[in-house]
Parts: sequence; C-alpha cells; structure tokens
Amino acid sequence: MTTVLQTVEAYRSWRSETVGTASLGFIPTMGGLHEGHLELVKRSLVENDHVAVSIFLNRTQFNKQEDYDKYPAVFEEDLRVLEELGVDAVFAPSYDDMYPDDYRYKISESQLSTELEGEHRPGHFDGVLTVVLKLLMVGNATRAYFGEKDWQQLQLVKGLVEAFFLPVEIVACPTIREESGLAMSSRNRRLSAEGLQLAARFNQVLNTAESEEAAMVALSAAGFEPEYVADRGDRRLGAVVLEGVRLIDNVERKVAR
Ligand code: PAF
Repeated sequence: MTTVLQTVEAYRSWRSETVGTASLGFIPTMGGLHEGHLELVKRSLVENDHVAVSIFLNRTQFNKQEDYDKYPAVFEEDLRVLEELGVDAVFAPSYDDMYPDDYRYKISESQLSTELEGEHRPGHFDGVLTVVLKLLMVGNATRAYFGEKDWQQLQLVKGLVEAFFLPVEIVACPTIREESGLAMSSRNRRLSAEGLQLAARFNQVLNTAESEEAAMVALSAAGFEPEYVADRGDRRLGAVVLEGVRLIDNVERKVAR
C-alpha cells in the first residue's frame, strides 16, 4: 500500500516514523509517468530500504503558461502504477505547501544555466533548481534519482548538491527510449501517431549528423523546428519543436580521432 502524503508536515512525520535510519530513495517527478520514470523507481527499489516519489507539477519552471496547462495531470493513473511497483510513499504537495514564500526566494546558477535550455527557456532553471533544493531538503533521502535525458538539468542538480553541501547522493540513470530511438517523455503523449513516427528522426539525426550545423539543416528538412543542436564535450544536445510539442534529447557524441 502506497501512502499518499500531501503536506510537508505529513511527509516529515512519515520520514521520521517509517524510514528512520533506514535508507531512502527519492524520485522527484512532475507526474505524467512513463517508462523512463519507472526505471528510476525500479532502480531505487533495488538500492534502498524505502522509496518515495514526489509528484509536483512545478509551475515556476514553465516559461510558457500553455506548456504548463498542457502537461499531463494524471495523478490517479500515476499512483496506480507506483502502487503496483511497491513504492512506499508518494509526496504530492500543493503549490502553497512548497512555496510558502510564493517564490520570493529562488536559486539561480550563473553559467551553465544560461545556455542551451536556459537560453531558450528564460527562468526555467531558476524554477528547477529552486524546487529541487526544496524537494531534496524535505525529501531527506539517502539517494535521489534523475534521468540523463535532461542532461543539463542533471549537471545543474549535481552542482547544486555540491555547492550547498546537501547530504544526498545523486544517481544518474540512462535515457529510456522507444524502439524507434525516441527518448521517452511525458510530452510524447501530445504527439499524433504521425508525429510520433517522425519524432524518432530527431535522435537519428543527433547520432549521425557530421556537425551541429548539418544536424540543424537535417532536422529542418525532416519537418522539425529545431531550436538548437550543440556539441559539448562528449555530448551532443538538441531541442526541437514538432506539432507544437517541444522535445529535447542528448546522445554520446562520436568525436573524430
Ligand atoms: O525533471 C523533472 O521532471 C523536473 O524538472 C523535476 C526535477 C521533477 C523538478 O520539477
């Protein structure tokens, strides 16, 4: 039986009474769970005595109201899946609970967060880092699990934990993909059957294009509105819009020797 905790206070009581000194795995999510999230949960169940999943649609990280409004809010469905997996607790607070300050206080990072996703989604990473700090402080877990699909987010969260001496281990988990190569995402639900087929090209282009420029050209030609393709070290990252849905992905870059 999964316990649903709707306030910070209820979570904290559960944390101290049920978990105590045992190990706790924590998976922050905004709901709309897909196989990618479930892999994080499964790994956390193997590595910890207890597992808590947070479901909190964090509006401060959406730079477009429309994107926030369209995010799949399917709490009962999510809860059923988590219950089947054997998750101990779901933390599902309200905005007022998570933001008693109404977002007067925020965390911002001044380098990596200003490029790529940060450049195209102003304010996005302030919202992400602020809520992740809050969730990690309340969560008080041994390990917290994040997917590599949101590569830039993952690097920023690791940096946050280091900068503020947060006593939690960040566990990075590989991107889970459809057979077609399309990275799993809650946003994929908004694509038509045709869009879903075409979306697979995004990953193929990132993997095969000779350069950032060549990838941008190939993505436009395939029918996407590409926002950026950027090579950073051994990663190639990209963002595109298809049927009004924004998709991101990143792949290991084949660096020529
Ligand atoms: O990756 C996400 O789903 C969100 O950015 C996160 C980490 C749950 C914060 O709202």
